[in-house]
Amino acid sequence: MYKCAIILAAGKGKRMKSDLPKVIHKVCNKEMVNHVIDTMRKANIEDVNVVIGKSAEKVKSATQNRHVVYSFQKEQLGTGHAVMCTKEFLEGKSGTVAIFTGDAPLIRPETVKKLIKYHEENEFSATILTSKVDEPAEYGRIIRNNINEVEKIVEFKDCNEEEVKINEINSGMYCFDIEDLLSSLNRLNNNNAQGEYYLTDVISILKKESKKVGAIDTTFEETLGVNSRVQLSEVEKIMRKRINNYHMENGVTIIDPNNTYIGPDVEIGNDTIIYPGNVLEGNTNIGKSCMIYPNSRINDSIIENNVTIQNSVILESKIGESTTVGPFAYIRPQSNIGKSTRIGDFVEIKKSSIGDGTKVSHLTYIGDAEVGSGCNFGCGTVVVNYDGKNKYKTVIGNNAFIGCNTNLVSPVVVNDNSYIAAGSTITDEVPEKALAIARAKQVNKEGWVDKKGVWK
Ligand code: UD1
Ligand code: CA
Repeated sequence: MYKCAIILAAGKGKRMKSDLPKVIHKVCNKEMVNHVIDTMRKANIEDVNVVIGKSAEKVKSATQNRHVVYSFQKEQLGTGHAVMCTKEFLEGKSGTVAIFTGDAPLIRPETVKKLIKYHEENEFSATILTSKVDEPAEYGRIIRNNINEVEKIVEFKDCNEEEVKINEINSGMYCFDIEDLLSSLNRLNNNNAQGEYYLTDVISILKKESKKVGAIDTTFEETLGVNSRVQLSEVEKIMRKRINNYHMENGVTIIDPNNTYIGPDVEIGNDTIIYPGNVLEGNTNIGKSCMIYPNSRINDSIIENNVTIQNSVILESKIGESTTVGPFAYIRPQSNIGKSTRIGDFVEIKKSSIGDGTKVSHLTYIGDAEVGSGCNFGCGTVVVNYDGKNKYKTVIGNNAFIGCNTNLVSPVVVNDNSYIAAGSTITDEVPEKALAIARAKQVNKEGWVDKKGVWK
C-alpha cells in the first residue's frame, strides 16, 4: 500500500528560549527533525512532507539534503490546522499517511513499522501510538468506551476530573487512511481550552462516522517530546545510551559510556576500544581493532582498521590502516592519510594526501600537498602554501627525507629518494637522489667572545 509521512515542525518552541526553532536543536549532534525524517526513511517511507512555519527558512536549510517536500503553515493554529496545510500534498493520494512530530526524536523505525503494519492489517481509519505512564502530565489522554475501543483523545487542558486520571497517553504519532483524514479535517473546530484546531479531534469525528480506530502502545521513552532544554538533555542522554549500547553489542569496548559521544550515523568495527571524552560525529566510519584514546573529535571521516588516535581532531578525512595519529594532531578536511603512517604531536595536515609509511612525527604543517610513501618529515617542517593571496601545491615523491625545520615554498616539487638538509628553505625543484641545502653556510668567528669583551 502507498505510504507517506507528515512531520509537524511549524511551532517555535517558546520554552526553549532560543533564537532557533525547536526542531533544529540537536540531539547527539543531529537535528531533532532530521532524526524523525531519517526514522521515516528507515521505516521505508519515501514521501515525507515537513510542515514548517516559524523560522521556516532555517528548518528548510537544516533539512535540505534529505529530499523532503514542505508545506507552509503561516499561523500556528494547532496540530489539526498544521495538517490542513498539507492538503495539497495529500490530495489525490490514497493509502496510509503517518503523522509524527519534529520534537520527538526517540521514536524508532521498528516501532513506526509496527504501527503501520497494525494499522494496515486491521484496515483502521486511524491508529494512534499510545503509551502507559504513571505521571501522564500534560499529554493528551486516550478515552476508551465500555468495550475498550478508543473513543476519543482529550487534551490535558480539556480533561475533566475523571479523564485527567487516565494514564494511557497520546504520543502525538499516528497513522491515518489518507481519504478519511482529508474528509474529517474539514470538520475540525477550535472550540476548546486552547482555541486551537486539534488533530486529536479527528479521532472522535471518525468514530462518529463508525470508522474503525485502533491504538498500539510503545514505551513511554520513545514518545518523549522535547519542549525545554532540560528535556533536550534528558532525550540526549537516552539517545546516547541507546547508541553506545548498540556499539557495545556489536563488539566495541566503550570504557565510559556516560562520557563518550557518538552520533547516530557513526559505524564502528568490533574490538575497537574507545576511551572517555571522545566525540565521534557525522558519517564517520571507524574500522576494527582501533584504539581511540581520550579526547578526540572525529567528524565525517573514515578510519581504517588498527588505527591509533590520541587527543586529536580529524575532519572530513581518511586515515589508512595501522596508522597512528596524535597526540594533538589536527587533520583538516580533504586529507587522505595512507596506511602505517605516523602523524605525530602538533602536526596539522590540510587538504593533503600522505602516502603509506610516511612519518610526520612532530611540529609540522602540511597544506595543499601530495606526499608519497616512505617519506620522513623532520621536526618543524612547514609547507609554505600561501603567499598572502593564493594557495599553491607542493608535490613530494616517495622516500624523501625532509630535514628538520625545512620550509617548502609552494609550488615546489621534491623528487623520489632525495634529501633536504635541516633548516633549508626550498624554493626550487629537488632532483631525484639529490641532497638539497638551502641555507647560509656556517661561519665560525674564532675568539669572538673574548674580542668583544662584553660577556665576561
Ligand atoms: C500534542 C497532542 C497531545 C499529545 C502530545 C504528545 C494535539 C492537540 N495534542 O500536544 O495529545 O499527547 O502532542 O507530544 O495534537 N505544531 C505545528 N503547528 C501548530 C501546532 C503545533 O506544526 O500549529 C507542531 C509543533 O511544532 C510540534 C508538534 O506540532 O512539533 C506538537 O505540537 P505541541 O504544541 O507541542 O503539541 P502538544 O501540546 O505537545
Ligand atoms: Ca509537544
